[in-house]
Amino acid sequence: MQEVRYLILRPLGYPLKASYHEYPVVDNPRVFERYAKDQWKGEFVSKGKMLFDYRMFPDFAFEVVNAEPEGIITDLTRILVENPRSVIETEIVKDVGICDVVGQDEAKSKVKVILKFLQNPEKFGRWAPKNVLFYGPPGTGKTMTAKALANEANVPFISVKSTKLIGEHVGDGARRIHELYERARQVAPCIVFLDEFDSIALDRSYQDLRGDVSEVVNALLTELDGIEMNDGICTIAATNRIELLDHSIRSRFEEEIEFTLPNFEERLSILKNNLKDFPLKVRANLRVVAEITEGFSGRDLVEKVIKSALHKAIAEERDYIETSDLVRAVERIKKPVKQPPKQMFV
Ligand SMILES: Nc1ncnc2c1ncn2[C@@H]1O[C@H](COP(=O)(O)OP(=O)(O)OP(=O)(O)O)[C@@H](O)[C@H]1O
Ligand SMILES: [Mg+2]
Repeated sequence: MQEVRYLILRPLGYPLKASYHEYPVVDNPRVFERYAKDQWKGEFVSKGKMLFDYRMFPDFAFEVVNAEPEGIITDLTRILVENPRSVIETEIVKDVGICDVVGQDEAKSKVKVILKFLQNPEKFGRWAPKNVLFYGPPGTGKTMTAKALANEANVPFISVKSTKLIGEHVGDGARRIHELYERARQVAPCIVFLDEFDSIALDRSYQDLRGDVSEVVNALLTELDGIEMNDGICTIAATNRIELLDHSIRSRFEEEIEFTLPNFEERLSILKNNLKDFPLKVRANLRVVAEITEGFSGRDLVEKVIKSALHKAIAEERDYIETSDLVRAVERIKKPVKQPPKQMFV
């Protein structure tokens, strides 16, 4: 029987409602891991299974969100508990590889270096890759590439939407940043992914207007500076608006990697790849579709063009799609949005 490497749990509660109070929030993940292993070492776990606490909070239930791979809990299993109130997500990514990312050669070659580092954090010493910034138009593969990296390195993907780091109260943002890197240190080696990065890393002139943002920026700088070279934590930030970023933040990133919209050949590959395991027969000339989709992102091609062609064919009870389905979907997207009448602005 194989051993579980990563186990992610969600607190579920007690089977019976009585006067029990809620299970306490996990304050110290390392101590919790020890406590959990004392109870559950040797248990077989798989997705959806429940584990019960039988020591300090008898019968409190946890659901297994993910056991990667499913198997036996051993001393080496990393045990993570989701905090239902947290904005931080920990994922074990499967099903997407670096070879699935079409184009974006600069990003892919950097990713290969990071991959080597994550597989052997000690080897790089002070030359370790630490912080990378991905920028470019929406839907060009930034998140996909970061996830593919985590998958191929077989390390957890810890992500947060930066907009969610800004809380309601003073100190919320700094606390969340700290929580994010706490988790990263617990599960390292790992990837930390800061999405929508412009919302917290705004230029100083904007920050003056937003005290809460500058608090997050300062906390982030402290964390980024505090990461030791061989901690095995690589931070990837992603944004569509690099020009809005604060320079002190930008300077912390050793490399800024641009993601570009796909060219003809790349659009053709994205279309082909996504039609490989298509539920219907494909009787389409994809070159025609690639030709008329200049300016479309990978996401546009997948989520809009292919998907809407599929839905149309299903609605018409056909078992195939053809060129005209795809072309019609493209034309619908290209159609200019109707301008509202002028008097609305006066
Ligand atoms: N370069 C690419 N190669 C293959 N598929 C792509 C590529 N770019 C985008 N896609 C498709 O579009 C989807 C969305 O891409 P992704 O979420 O990585 O975009 P993004 O750059 O992170 O966008 P955003 O800036 O809006 O977050 C992917 O899951 C994939 O199906
Ligand atoms: Mg993204």
